[in-house]
Amino acid sequence: MSPPPPPRACIIGHPVAHSRSPLIHGHWLARHGLDGSYSLEDVAPGGLADFLTGMGGHFVGANVTVPHKVDALQLSARATAQAQAVGAANTLWFEAGTLVADNSDVAGFLAHLDEAAPGWERRARRAVVLGAGGAARAVLYALIGRGIETIRLVNRDLGRAGALRERFGPAVEPAAWAGVEASLRACDLLVNTTSLGMTGQPPLRLDLADLPPHAVVVDIVYAPLETDLLLAARRRGLVAVDGLGMLLHQAAPAFERWFGVRPSVTPELRALIEASIAGDARAADQTRPA
Ligand code: ATR
Repeated sequence: MSPPPPPRACIIGHPVAHSRSPLIHGHWLARHGLDGSYSLEDVAPGGLADFLTGMGGHFVGANVTVPHKVDALQLSARATAQAQAVGAANTLWFEAGTLVADNSDVAGFLAHLDEAAPGWERRARRAVVLGAGGAARAVLYALIGRGIETIRLVNRDLGRAGALRERFGPAVEPAAWAGVEASLRACDLLVNTTSLGMTGQPPLRLDLADLPPHAVVVDIVYAPLETDLLLAARRRGLVAVDGLGMLLHQAAPAFERWFGVRPSVTPELRALIEASIAGDARAADQTRPA
């Protein structure tokens, strides 16, 4: 009998070419001397159900990113309690041929925040979260789980913010962008989950002058690594937490599911991904018209 083929995993998204996940998992496969692979799978909206149906013969599992996280949960046969509570999945694997879904964004967000701002929740009662998309769901679940009492949820589409109050309860207070700066006065933790400030997206313009001196500012955008929001926070002397740590920490439990080894988020891995992000930024600068 021939040996089983090396395990293959992938990331499913659209677009997906920018994803750093192959670099992260490729680094861990090499580090642990494992025979396996991790590829990019560009699956257009509407194509997810077919892809997942055919996935079993080829892949041991997958990460899921924009725009498929909510649909991936619904299309899976089973889901962890956490994925169900968040209402979105970012990690899939097979158990006895059955597709199972989890959401490791929650653990990824908290692991990096705990590392970058130890003890942050001791002074955090009120948070302001910008954005009400897929990433915001994981952040809300994480913050409520850590005992944050009030979360002002600022979003352009107020209906989307209202739907998250329905899901997560009255701790979530939907709010419009107008007047956001006033709500920073009583804010212990500010988290940007929108795509504003990301390379190629409109800037995030926010005056942080009214944030209290103990406030922690988190941006889950990681390209660029140092966003304008984080720069403004550092200028004020606030603790600023970047988005790369969440990306690295959410990947570790998925790798363990598929390849059987719990990998570590090391400075070496972080430097590898930072160099890749910086390389993209340099390439974008060179193609910009003079
Ligand atoms: P993700 O899964 O990364 O959260 P998403 O579900 O597409 O991605 O959510 C993107 C978030 O960025 C949303 O909160 C979106 O606001 P709307 O719900 O109002 O669309 C926010 N966003 C994106 N572009 C924006 C812009 N130009 N101005 C304000 N908010 C923006």
